[in-house]
Amino acid sequence: MDLFGGNAAWTLGLIAGFVALLYLYGKRRKRLLKDAGIPGREPNLIFGAILDFVWKGLDFENKQRKEYGDVFGEWFGGFPMINVFDPDILKEVLIKDFDTFTDRMGFIDLDDYPLSTNMFSAKSDTWHRIRKIASPTFSAGKLRKMCRGINLCAQKLTRNFIRAAESGEEVDLKQYFGAFSMDAIGNTGFGIEIDSQNDFDNNFVRETKKVFDNAFFGNPFVFLIMLFPELRALAKWLGLGAFPRSTKRFFTQAVTEMIKQRKNEAKEDRERRVDILQLLLDAEEGDHQDGSKISDEAAQKSSSTLTTDEVIGQAFVFFLGGYETTAGTLQFIGYVLATQSGVQDKLAKEIYLVLGEEDPDYDNIQGLVYMDRVVSETLRLYPGVMATNRYVSKTTTIKGWTFPEGAYVNVPIIFLHRDPEVFPEPRKFKPERWEKKAEINPMFYQPFGHGPRHCIGMRLALVEVKIALVHLIRSIRLVRLKDTPDELTEFKVTGILQPKTPIKLKIELR
Ligand code: HEM
Repeated sequence: MDLFGGNAAWTLGLIAGFVALLYLYGKRRKRLLKDAGIPGREPNLIFGAILDFVWKGLDFENKQRKEYGDVFGEWFGGFPMINVFDPDILKEVLIKDFDTFTDRMGFIDLDDYPLSTNMFSAKSDTWHRIRKIASPTFSAGKLRKMCRGINLCAQKLTRNFIRAAESGEEVDLKQYFGAFSMDAIGNTGFGIEIDSQNDFDNNFVRETKKVFDNAFFGNPFVFLIMLFPELRALAKWLGLGAFPRSTKRFFTQAVTEMIKQRKNEAKEDRERRVDILQLLLDAEEGDHQDGSKISDEAAQKSSSTLTTDEVIGQAFVFFLGGYETTAGTLQFIGYVLATQSGVQDKLAKEIYLVLGEEDPDYDNIQGLVYMDRVVSETLRLYPGVMATNRYVSKTTTIKGWTFPEGAYVNVPIIFLHRDPEVFPEPRKFKPERWEKKAEINPMFYQPFGHGPRHCIGMRLALVEVKIALVHLIRSIRLVRLKDTPDELTEFKVTGILQPKTPIKLKIELR
């Protein structure tokens, strides 16, 4: 029987030829790490190691390290990654030779303008300019002023937990903490009241969540680009983006509206503002004495100005960073408090002794030493961002290893945090480890990364987390359910650490 209408031989020949070409191309492309002498498994020519991450979870990387040592290669789809566990090499990459390793992979680079101008994805000089402009947002002085807004959001969070305690309903931690962190970033960063704590399905929360749901396996198209990064130019040309269209539209419109409103405010009101948006707008308006709009080209050339589109891109990444990782961290802390006996009471005692009835603020929370250890230990066990990376911009040799141009150095944050040599019994929650913090090599602990490109929101996140904990622990107690596991072992495969099943707890009044 001739299935192909007489052209079977031709069709089969074409298919076989295409598969052979794909195979040869994959084999050639995947030589980069091997040629540089980086050890590692023979990669799957299409998927690299992605399928192993999916099937084998966290154990996969541990096994690899045992087999190959502190430096080994792994293809993440079509991206050549060099995993580094050696602290001296990490220090060289993240700090000492930062100029060679300035950029990171960021979000997949597609047609996402203006959101794609965000600092997380920005490259070289553009990144330097944006980072320099945005950094003062998180100075101690600015953070002090943001505490009032964070306290208001934390009080609302506590009222929601009290309501749940009174009604006996179970609390989905991510939902409650997600709404809190979204309200907090809206208030401190943009001077707006999002009020997602009274509406869990608020537009800001919904559109931000979509970005993470859409990453990696959530969007077959993004996944295809991860396997074949060479298709990026075509995808861009076709107008395809890594973020959902609705998210792009929503953030562009929302931030444009915020900018418009801010510009219509009286000068004195604007000058009183201490938030991220004002700082970005001050940079955007930097050169305009006459109120006219600066051209994109001129802004990009100047070292102290941003284009309007860049303001939108930064606002977007601050909403993302401000929401997901902070909410995730609070969720893991909530889980730890409910499952580790004695920790909540010890925290309550410390809060009483150090703060009395005072509202927490930037200065007095520095006295909460035990709380700092609990937060640090939770971030060690469950770092919100599992890994970060740096692009090798020119072939460089460190400690005898050749890092070839075009590869990425992968900083395996969660695995560094679970190194048994540095953290004995690594899977156990032991806040007392941090009594001797000075003895821990900082390269093995980096929930916020390290070096000039570490997390810009680190201090804000820690202040938010601690203020929220003070309010909560004064009023309520988190209680595990019958089916709450003793240890969290199942996570979704994305760059962000998320438990496979939502963490739910019961709440009791204190
Ligand atoms: C507990 C909460 C948070 C965690 C665990 C976290 C973690 C991280 C990590 C690991 C990186 C990569 C650092 C590196 O490559 O060395 C990063 C980058 C970044 N984070 Fe955070 N983050 C948190 C909260 C925040 C907040 C609240 C914001 C903003 C308001 C934020 C904004 C950013 C930005 C913009 C970058 C890119 C910085 C750059 O490339 O210069 N993050 N974060």
